Amino acid sequence: MSELLESLVASVLASDKYAHITPDFVRAVAAEQLRRHAKSKDALKATKNKLHQVAAAYFDGKVTYTAWLRQLAQASAEERRAVCRAIMANHASTRERLPVLDNLYATLTAKLPPIRSVVDVACGLSPLAALWLPDLTHYYAYDVYHDLADFLNSFFQLIGVQGGAYVQDVLSNPPSQSADVAFVMKALPCLAQLDAAAAESLLDRLDAEHLIVTFPARSLSGRAKGMVENYSARFESLVAARCWQAERLIVANEVVFIVHQLARPV
Ligand SMILES: C[S@@+](CC[C@H](N)C(=O)[O-])C[C@H]1O[C@@H](n2cnc3c(N)ncnc32)[C@H](O)[C@@H]1O
Repeated sequence: MSELLESLVASVLASDKYAHITPDFVRAVAAEQLRRHAKSKDALKATKNKLHQVAAAYFDGKVTYTAWLRQLAQASAEERRAVCRAIMANHASTRERLPVLDNLYATLTAKLPPIRSVVDVACGLSPLAALWLPDLTHYYAYDVYHDLADFLNSFFQLIGVQGGAYVQDVLSNPPSQSADVAFVMKALPCLAQLDAAAAESLLDRLDAEHLIVTFPARSLSGRAKGMVENYSARFESLVAARCWQAERLIVANEVVFIVHQLARPV
């Protein structure tokens, strides 16, 4: 089994599309697919499909981290936000948010105490919106791509924000870093495709007084399919079962819950 698993992991990582994903995460996905499929050919196909669904599908632009870093380094402080916007257009999740980015971050900063530190779970390119958080000093970002983490670490250095970007499967290893606010933006539906129970229990592991939990109002293909109602009902039942207070906003294509943890998990 373990030889078969390692050869499957190697086959996945040999493909350019998945080469930068952390092998540990590929291994976890592949092990699950080997349990489900008798033929290794089918398990390989299913592993790639799953990695596409939960990660690669969102990177639908051309990823050119070196060029992006150069553009960021050459931009003046005033130009930098425009460069960040252009870069965020390369990940479907942040691209959908661009028309409401100013409004969303202004609303969050107005509704919460000063946001000095952020934990961003399954972050994609959203840490580039750090420039929209005026009081920020520390940003801790987590995703499964090595090249993304390297890029974000250089970005944080460039803008003088401390913290870091970490290559981490947040389901098997939830971040333990404490912060003022934890962002779980459009991440739960995606993580639930891997393990619904682990995605929910991740919320209880986050060490932040406030959580920003968001859901897409439309699928990647643009269909709405009652998503606002379904995600809201499910999340509201999670809130009701905890010592949380939550406010829901609908900001264009995103359902945003601002959650205040009244009692923190021990
Ligand atoms: C829907 S996108 C959300 C990105 C970002 N939070 C945003 O709102 O723009 C989901 C992200 O989760 C990441 N991801 C998927 N599974 C993960 C896991 N187990 N651990 C950490 N990140 C994961 C993907 O690489 C992708 O960047």
